[in-house]
Amino acid sequence: MANVTFVQPDGRAQSVEIEEGFSVMQAANNNDIPGIAGECGGCVSCATCKVEVDAAWIARIPASTELETSLIEDEDANVRLSCQIMMTPELDGLVVHVPASQYR
Ligand code: FES
Repeated sequence: MANVTFVQPDGRAQSVEIEEGFSVMQAANNNDIPGIAGECGGCVSCATCKVEVDAAWIARIPASTELETSLIEDEDANVRLSCQIMMTPELDGLVVHVPASQYR
């Protein structure tokens, strides 16, 4: 098991456990984390699962694929699709921020 912390736009933080091999989006959905819909179930077609990876962690996240990049309109390089971040032991303690834009 690995731990990931979701920080909401108002600063509230919630830490949840996730099995390795599952995505950060699945961790959010399984724990009713608001602001991460994950409408396509991880098929890289909805972009309703965006997170801003905490600056302390971004270098440890594998590079995004062309498909993922095509779905992310944000200029911020720390913004990723949480369905494409698979948990590994190295990511235990990961911190991601839920974008306020996903509450529209
Ligand atoms: S869940 Fe649809 S792109 Fe991530």
